[in-house]
Amino acid sequence: MYILSIETSCDETAVSLVRADGEFPEAAYTILGNGLFSQIDIHKEFGGVFPNVAKREHAKALVPMLEKALREADILIEIPAAITEADKEHVRKLLVREEGLADSIFDFFSKYSFSAIDRIAVTSGPGLEPALWVGVNFAQALGYLRNTPVIPVNHMKGHIFASLLKGNILEQVTFPAVALLISGGHTDLVRMNDYTSFEVIGSTRDDAVGEAFDKTARMLGLPYPGGPQIGSLAGEAREQNLPQILPPLPRPMLTSGDLDFSFSGLKTAVRTRVLDVQITNEEKKQYAREIEDAITDVLIRKVHDAIDRTGAQTLIVGGGVSANTHIRKSLERLVSEDIPYVKLHMPERNLSTDNSIMIALAAHAEPNIATSMIVAQGSLQL
Ligand code: KG4
Ligand code: ZN
Repeated sequence: MYILSIETSCDETAVSLVRADGEFPEAAYTILGNGLFSQIDIHKEFGGVFPNVAKREHAKALVPMLEKALREADILIEIPAAITEADKEHVRKLLVREEGLADSIFDFFSKYSFSAIDRIAVTSGPGLEPALWVGVNFAQALGYLRNTPVIPVNHMKGHIFASLLKGNILEQVTFPAVALLISGGHTDLVRMNDYTSFEVIGSTRDDAVGEAFDKTARMLGLPYPGGPQIGSLAGEAREQNLPQILPPLPRPMLTSGDLDFSFSGLKTAVRTRVLDVQITNEEKKQYAREIEDAITDVLIRKVHDAIDRTGAQTLIVGGGVSANTHIRKSLERLVSEDIPYVKLHMPERNLSTDNSIMIALAAHAEPNIATSMIVAQGSLQL
């Protein structure tokens, strides 16, 4: 099965072509083509992601990323596709809110066609709504023009399956499993009884982990996205053995006895400490380390509790924050020292942050993928 997958939920515009040989979960996956445009440099200027800026950039980048993915996959054909005026009319209606996108699709098909694909998978949520709609409407337009079923995919499920891909196969999961999903928009603990059941058993009451990294980084004068910046400064503080910043930052809800998180108090604590104060580069490193430690302590504790409560035999970690070296090492230590009966799955680093390969994997895991019919045009809901 050839799956064209599209991801536009936040600030990455991603299109890939993945071939699945065999049935989920035993299939072999080959990434034939991958187009990934990061809007980070554009959002850096504003210090964060504005949904309407992201939407506009997605509309510009989608066709170039489609072309890149198809070219890499060697299925782009340099012969114009026949599109009737009636088809154009229909596509214009679908893309009425996506500035310039209909015209760039027509321009693409005036030069190219491509070999048949079986399914189009697209992130339908969660994410920034204007950004999601561009991808969904683009998928619907392609689905219509190519007579191909469109499969809506949950972004967080994408992160789960990204964590399982090793080489070209998915690692097998023993259930029940707990997934820790940590990204810019989410901090969730999810109980899975099988590959299709997802029960949220804990989540953040305010800011997500990635958001806590990004916002505290900004207070330290670090550029967007702050997570990787904090990660590398904290790493330097560890290497140089810098003393812990005192008093320590709070570990919010560490002992709350439930599986929920809250990170706004940490953010406020950092703001109170650094506002209107000149901090040295060395102090920046110390703060970065303390922020990373505070976040990690809470994550480790809650994961441990979630495993105890569910009797899970598997821990799956996914989302952009899972790229953080200290968090990865701490999770590895937790599993090897405290809960050795649990198998840990973490994504390869290039699949930690948002991408469209994970959307193809999650689509293939949908029980109805083989029988999916074309979603009625314009009817796909977020
Ligand atoms: O999953 P993702 O790419 O996008 C969302 O779905 O939100 O996650 C992005 C988040 C950002 O907040 C970013 O700062 C954080 O992941 N992040 C990191 C690291 N790399 C990305 N946070 C801490 N350490 C990192 N190395
Ligand atoms: Zn994500």
